[in-house]
Amino acid sequence: MSTDAHTPRRTFAIISHPDAGKTTLTEKLLLYGGAIHLAGSVRAARARRHATSDWMELEKQRGISITSSVLQFPYAGTRFNLLDTPGHQDFSEDTYRTLTAADCAVMLIDAAKGVEAQTRKLFQVCRLRNTPIATFINKLDRPGRDPFELMTEIEQLLSIHCVPVNWPIGSGTGFRGVYDRLSHKVLVFTRAGDHGQSVVNMEELSVDDPRLPEIVGETQWQMTRDEIELLDTAGEDVDVQAFREGKITPVFFGSAMTNFGIEPFLARFKDFAPPPAPRASSRGLVQASDRDFSAFIFKVQANMDKAHRDRVAFMRVCSGAFQSGMWVKHVRLGKEVRLSRPQQFFAQERTLVDEAYPGDVLGVFDPGMFRIGDTIVTGESFTFDAVPRFSPEHFARLRAKDPSRRKQFVQGLSQLVEEGTAQIFTVPGQEQQPVLGVVGQLQFEVLEHRLKSEYGVEVYLELLPYSHARWVEGEEATADAFEGRGYGAALYDQDGKLVVLFKSDWSLGIAERDFPKVTFHTTAPILIAPSK
Ligand code: G4P
Repeated sequence: MSTDAHTPRRTFAIISHPDAGKTTLTEKLLLYGGAIHLAGSVRAARARRHATSDWMELEKQRGISITSSVLQFPYAGTRFNLLDTPGHQDFSEDTYRTLTAADCAVMLIDAAKGVEAQTRKLFQVCRLRNTPIATFINKLDRPGRDPFELMTEIEQLLSIHCVPVNWPIGSGTGFRGVYDRLSHKVLVFTRAGDHGQSVVNMEELSVDDPRLPEIVGETQWQMTRDEIELLDTAGEDVDVQAFREGKITPVFFGSAMTNFGIEPFLARFKDFAPPPAPRASSRGLVQASDRDFSAFIFKVQANMDKAHRDRVAFMRVCSGAFQSGMWVKHVRLGKEVRLSRPQQFFAQERTLVDEAYPGDVLGVFDPGMFRIGDTIVTGESFTFDAVPRFSPEHFARLRAKDPSRRKQFVQGLSQLVEEGTAQIFTVPGQEQQPVLGVVGQLQFEVLEHRLKSEYGVEVYLELLPYSHARWVEGEEATADAFEGRGYGAALYDQDGKLVVLFKSDWSLGIAERDFPKVTFHTTAPILIAPSK
């Protein structure tokens, strides 16, 4: 694949609820990009990875993907970088952070289910940064809900205006194709008969083609024409600028399983998706076109390969050009470093890279010097604005079973906290028994497993009944004001900021009512203090 500076980059992530079809869609995007030749290999690669990656034993046992990676595929002269976010119900903060490295997101919705819980959470995270969101309504090959009803649900639940780019012709076994509202063409698909393993046959017809009633069925075609007319009367065209500003979501229909609608999606998404965005920093907006190289770390992953106890740090390139072997400045450490064995991920295979440009993601071996949020530059030093920490939703008190392994316990914990596996909260005087907060409950299992296998520490984990953390700010925001008064528990985060843990929406609501002058933040910036 071309990696030269002139190939446009589009960097995005897919957000969805488990089972909406993210793995299937990812695979089909790779198929249409020519990155794989027969669908089915992503799952197979995943299975292979299970065989080689040991700490992922847990992942294998649970049959889920905890880790995320970056996939690239080319399409029509554009290079897409797809940031793969962990998709299981028990997703982690990694999922959120990965979104901060994407320039846009594709919201994948199961046509039978509509907007589901996890989609909603991830949507809100995108909204925090005004990340543009396109919508792909999937599984049209199965009986689903009415497309108008689905769009209304998205608008009502997510408060974003939907503008269909294409429109489905039929549904379930009668799903024959889509009508492209921009070109006014009808795209009719024919099943290849190999369960969507290879590219599907697509015929492009004019909307007035006399064969259409016969091809899609007379009643169906009449219905589609009425629907198209209705959409046209509403008179809304897709406004790419409004999408890029996060004001509307362009909506596509299709079936990742049968490949119907994949190509029409890619063909438009290529033009709609924004180029690498400028990013806020201590010296103002950093533009992708700036000459000096800059990048930030959005994810650190330990022991992807058990043979190396190293970690892999994932960095998103924001400006300039990266060349293999070059020296860069690690701003927090104030030190020149050489990035070791930079890798990219091609259809889940890792390859060493020579060059990378804005929008690209590099994985570098990390002997322990990178933290989430670190800025890497050449030229003048600056720091990118912090990657936020999000409110965990599950909490537990943790204690080492064997007090003599206290040192390893502290070391292991701080490593895992640094990686972003969990957040740590303490009460002054009770530092020996910290409270850990995670976004998905599975992270507790990951923590227990890793503390045991990597640090030889067994722990007692006592689940706590809290479900929300709020960083509180304001004159009245003191630990005493909240502690012991039934709101929840007042603790301090790893940067010494006051956090209140609430048991329910209800107790949070009461506290908000009782303390109108206090601000309750759902996120906290990760402080990137310079090293001493
Ligand atoms: P996820 O990563 O979002 O969790 O979803 P995944 O792609 O694994 O898909 C979940 C299930 O939905 C799979 O079925 C998959 O085949 C099915 N699916 C995905 N896209 C479509 C689609 O467009 N139409 C239909 N009808 N089904 C779709 P499964 O039975 O769990 O697995 P499998 O036996 O098919 O592998």
